Amino acid sequence: MYSQLDRNRLPRHAAIIMDGNGRWAGALGLLRSAGHTAGVKTLKKILQTAVDLELEALTVYAFSTENWKRPLAEVDFLMHLFSEYLEKEKREMHENNVRIRFLGRTEEFSPLIQSQIRDAEQLMQNNTGVKFNIAANYGGQDEIVRAAKKIAARVLDGELALDQIDDKLFESELDTGESPPVDLVIRTGGDLRVSNFLLWQSAYAEFWFTQTNWPEFSPEEFIAALVDFGKRERRFGAIKST
Ligand code: IPE
Ligand code: IPE
Ligand code: MG
Repeated sequence: MYSQLDRNRLPRHAAIIMDGNGRWAGALGLLRSAGHTAGVKTLKKILQTAVDLELEALTVYAFSTENWKRPLAEVDFLMHLFSEYLEKEKREMHENNVRIRFLGRTEEFSPLIQSQIRDAEQLMQNNTGVKFNIAANYGGQDEIVRAAKKIAARVLDGELALDQIDDKLFESELDTGESPPVDLVIRTGGDLRVSNFLLWQSAYAEFWFTQTNWPEFSPEEFIAALVDFGKRERRFGAIKST
């Protein structure tokens, strides 16, 4: 697969909806939590692949604003896993020159997780490698509403005129601020939906879906998605150039 990859046709920004942990575990007679633990291992491999390929940005969906609807025990487990992941992985990420950022309402996490998030972001803030965004307590609609509120506040303060609001300005108030637009969205687990992920940023993204559940997603399949992306013709509303 590597041999088919044209490095000049990689997405600048790939985003992944890491779905299917629970179903993977269920099919093996395991608890859903075992699926989440296995999913973390996959994430480690996929981030390493992004580092090896020198992708500009990788965003992963770890926890949605809707995932609070799950049983408390599962939410607690995910929080614990999240905290453990940051603790264990941040050194290696830093050594890999990764720049981590969190998207979403992180202020609703426990004080411990909030401080881990701040520490990780600070540690890696000057890194120049892969921009690695973790969407945690993230919802695309929520992000857009928060951006609109920030802009409205600036208008009320007299700092900004209505006419100055355009798509660039709006984009700069989104959580993804410095990452380029999303080129490719991958969803594992077989469902064909967006589930409130990067609604603004994926306006012109290519989509790639797989039945594979996240714990079984591999660097090889990731590369297959990137190869497929490289073959697509993106028109952005224009017509085919001749
Ligand atoms: C994705 O896997 C992980 C999170 C949403 C946190 P799921 O937990 O949604 O697994 P399925 O979709 O139920 O199999
Ligand atoms: C999307 O998966 C959120 C994450 C992967 C974190 P869900 O499992 O929450 O999505 P739905 O509920 O099937 O749409
Ligand atoms: Mg799911």
